[in-house]
Amino acid sequence: MPSMPKGILKTGQTEKIDLKNEALFNTKGYIDGSWVSAKSGKTFEVFNKATHAKLADVPDMGKEDTAAAIQAAAAAFPDWSSKTAKERSQLLTKLFLALEENALDLAHIIVAENGKSLTEAKGEIGYSNSFIDWFAGEAQRAYGHTVAPTLPGVRQNIILRKPVGVVGLITPWNFPAAMVTRKLGPALAAGCTMVIKAPAETPFSSLAFGHLCEKVGIPKGVVNIVTCAKGETEAAVGKELCENDIVRKLSFTGSTRVGKLLMKQSADSLKKLSMELGGNAPFIVFDDADLDKAVAGAMACKFRGSGQTCICANRIYVHESVYSEFAKRFAAKVDELKFGYGMDEGVTHGPLVNQAGVDKVQQHVDKSVGAGAKVLVGGKKGEGFFFEATVLTDMPENCPMDTEETFGPLAALYKFTSEEDVIRKCNNVPVGLAGYFYSQDVSRCWRVADALQTGMVGINCPLISQAVVPFGGIKHSGFGVEGGKDGINEYLVNKLTVWGA
Ligand code: SIN
Repeated sequence: MPSMPKGILKTGQTEKIDLKNEALFNTKGYIDGSWVSAKSGKTFEVFNKATHAKLADVPDMGKEDTAAAIQAAAAAFPDWSSKTAKERSQLLTKLFLALEENALDLAHIIVAENGKSLTEAKGEIGYSNSFIDWFAGEAQRAYGHTVAPTLPGVRQNIILRKPVGVVGLITPWNFPAAMVTRKLGPALAAGCTMVIKAPAETPFSSLAFGHLCEKVGIPKGVVNIVTCAKGETEAAVGKELCENDIVRKLSFTGSTRVGKLLMKQSADSLKKLSMELGGNAPFIVFDDADLDKAVAGAMACKFRGSGQTCICANRIYVHESVYSEFAKRFAAKVDELKFGYGMDEGVTHGPLVNQAGVDKVQQHVDKSVGAGAKVLVGGKKGEGFFFEATVLTDMPENCPMDTEETFGPLAALYKFTSEEDVIRKCNNVPVGLAGYFYSQDVSRCWRVADALQTGMVGINCPLISQAVVPFGGIKHSGFGVEGGKDGINEYLVNKLTVWGA
C-alpha cells in the first residue's frame, strides 16, 4: 500500500512558512502599486492543505475592488504599452532572475498553500519561471508584416501588432505559480496591463509575484492582484472582469462549466478570450509498447499533482494481451508512493486541495466499484484532504470517468482489444485537451496521433508541458494557446495601416 500520513492535522494552529526572504509573503491585495485591504474590510482564511494549520487571513475583495484594479491598469496602460519592446524584455529578464533567486522560497509557498510535495513544487517553480524567461525573448519578436498593394493609390499595407489593452487573468489553484506566469509573461511582453484574480485556495504565490514585479521596477498599476474567497465575492470579481468594457481580454484556466459562464458574461463587452478548460485525457498502452516505459509514463502522467492537473491521464486503456502484466507492474510502483506533508523527507505526493475534491474521488471509486470495477490498490480517503493512491481494474463501461475528470489520485485501467475500438472510446467525450499513448510501431504512432481528438498528444511521453510549445485544447477544452511562439499573440491585435502613394 502507498504510505499515508497519520496524526498530521494541526487545525486551529497557525503556521509560518519557512522563508529566507520574508518579503515574499504578503497578505493584502496589490492594486495600483499599493498593498490594500478589501473595501468591505472582509477577509478570509487560507490554510495549509496538508496540515490544515492557518497560514493567514487575506482580503475578500469584490466588485468595487476589482473595478479599482481595472482603473489602475487602464491608467498604467499608455506608459507601459509605449515602452520599447527591449525595455519590457529587460524588465522580464530582471523578473526571471528575481524568481530564480527566490526559487526555493517560492516552492515553500506552494507546498504550504497547495499541498504538493517539495519536489513537485520545485519542479513547478522551474516550469513557472521558464515562462518569464521565454516571454522576455518573445517581447522582442512581436512581428507585424507588410502586404503588397492591390489598389491604385496604395503605396504599402503595413500590419502592426498592438497590445490588446487591459487584460483580466483568472488562474487556478493546481499550479499556483506556473498558471500565473503563463499568462502574466505574455501579457507583460505584449505591453498589456492586467488584473489577476488569485485563486482563493492559493493566493500567496500570486502575491509573491506582485512583490517581485514591484521590486524589479515594473511600474505601479501594470500588475494588479485581487484576492477573494470562494463563492459570492469570487463570482462578483469574475463577473466584473467579464463585464467591464475596459478589460479587452480575459484569459481563464479552470473548469469547462465556469469557462462557459465567463464566456457568456463576456458577450456584451465582446472581449478577446482564451479558455484553457477541463480535459479527460486518455492514456493508451498498445501491445507493442515498451511496458516498463509505459508504466513509468502512466505513473508520471496520472499522479502529477496527486492527479490534479487538466492533462493527467483520466482513463488508462491497456491492450488485453498486456493488461495483467501492466496492472501488476503499475500497482507495484503505486505502492512505492509516499503521501504526506510536502516538506517532510521522502514525501512524493500531497493531499487534494479541498473536501469537494476528496468527495469526488470517493464517488468515482464507489460508482465504478458498484458497476463492477475491482480495487487493486487503495480506494479510501485518509486524514484531512488525503486520498489513497488508487488503482481500479476491470473497468466496465459507463463509469464516471468516461464523462468526467476525476482530478485525483485514481487510476482506472480499461481493457481494449483493437486500435479502432480504443480510438473510438478515447474520442467519445466532449472535451479534447491531451492524450497519450505508448507504442513502438512508427506507422501506428503517426496514425494514432492523427486520430486522437485532442489539442496535445504525448507519444511515448507522459510530460508534455513546456514554455516553448503551445498548450491548448479543442472541443469543450477551450481555445487559445498558452506558451510557444503563438502565446504572445493572444495578447496582441492587428492594426492595419494603409499608406497612400
Ligand atoms: C493545468 O492543469 O491546467 C495545466 C497543466 C500544465 O501546464 O502542465
